[in-house]
Amino acid sequence: MSATLEAPHSTQADSFPLRNLDHVHFYAGNAKQAAYFYRAAFGMTWTGYKGPETGSRDVVSYLLEQSRIRFLISSPLTPLHPMAEALRLHGDGVHDIAFEVDDAAASWSRAIERGAESAYGPQELTSAQGAVRMAAIKAYGDVIHSFVDRRSYQGALLPGYRAVESDTVARPTGLRHIDHMVGNVALGEMNRWVEFYQRVMGFSVFQSFDDKDISTEYSALMSKVMATGNGRIKFPINEPAPGRRKSQIDEYLEFHHGPGVQHIALSTGGIISTVARLAAQGVEFLRVPPEYYRQVWSRVGKIDEPAEELERLGILVDRDDEGYLLQIFTKPAGDRPTLFFEIIQRKGSRSFGKGNFKALFEAIEREQAARGNL
Ligand code: FE2
Repeated sequence: MSATLEAPHSTQADSFPLRNLDHVHFYAGNAKQAAYFYRAAFGMTWTGYKGPETGSRDVVSYLLEQSRIRFLISSPLTPLHPMAEALRLHGDGVHDIAFEVDDAAASWSRAIERGAESAYGPQELTSAQGAVRMAAIKAYGDVIHSFVDRRSYQGALLPGYRAVESDTVARPTGLRHIDHMVGNVALGEMNRWVEFYQRVMGFSVFQSFDDKDISTEYSALMSKVMATGNGRIKFPINEPAPGRRKSQIDEYLEFHHGPGVQHIALSTGGIISTVARLAAQGVEFLRVPPEYYRQVWSRVGKIDEPAEELERLGILVDRDDEGYLLQIFTKPAGDRPTLFFEIIQRKGSRSFGKGNFKALFEAIEREQAARGNL
C-alpha cells in the first residue's frame, strides 16, 4: 500500500484540496447546557440555532463561534435517533471534523475511489441565502469528516439555522483558530490511520514520536503528526504503547469506548490573558509541579513573556530550532476522562512541545491515579 502513496508536498495541494477546517461538530447529552459551558467558560458566542422551533423535529443544534473557531453542538430529541446510540457509547465528544472544500461531491467521490467509506452521500441544504453542499466519509472510530462547499451560499451559518442576534452569556477569551486536533486509536492501529490520511486525503507525516519520546515510569504512547496538503491543518494520531500500567490512551479508549478525538488545540495570540480569563471562567487546567519551572528556563532560554506570570498560571514552554511555543492543557471537558483542550501560542515553533511531554504526562497520570485508572 505504501508504494502508492502520493509524493509529499509537490502534488498534495492538487491531490485533495482542503480549504480549511469548516467546523467541529460535537454530540452532547444536553446541547443547551454544553453550549452554555462553551460560551461562559471558553468564550464562544452563540450565533445559530436549529431545533423544533425551526422545523428540526429530532435534533437540536447550537452553532457557537469565536474568531475562526466554529463549534456545532447537537443533541437528539428522540431515543431512536442514531445520535442517541453514539452518545450512549461514547459520551459527549467530537462526531465530525468538517472541512471546507470547493466541491463537496468531488471530494467525497475522490475519497471513496481511494478506499474511504461513506458516512453520507452528497446532499444540498438550501435556504433563501443559497445552498450549502455537503458529503462525508468515515474516519477512525465513529468520527466522520464532512466536506462542506459554501460557494453558493451567502449566509454566515448553515441553511436551516436561525441566526442568534446577541449573546449576553459569551465572554470571549481571545481564542483564534484550531491549531491541531488529536485522535486516539487502538494499539497497533496508528500506522493504518496514518496510511488512510495519506492515501485518501493527501496528508503527509509532519513529525513522529516513538515510545522513547513519550514515556513515563508507567506508561507510553506513540504519535505521528499528519498535515494536510497545504500544511494548514495538523492531525496527530496517538496509539498506546505497552507500559507498566494503563496509559492515558488506554484510559481514553476504555471510557470513550473506542477511538476518537482526544484533544483540540485552540490558538491564541496572548496566552497569558487568554488562560487567566479561561481559569477565571471555570476552565480547569492540569498543573505541573513547581520543579518544572526550576528547570525550564535553562532549557528554553530567553522568551518575551514574564516567567512569573507563566508559572502562576501553569503555562508550559518549549523551544525548537524555529522558535518557541507556550501551551497548557485542560482537564477533561466532560464527565468521562476523554476529550480535553489545549491552549497554544506559537512564537515561531511549529512543533508540539516535546520537551513538555514528560511533565505533562506525569500530570495526566496523577489525574488518572485519582480516578482509579492508573
Ligand atoms: Fe496538542
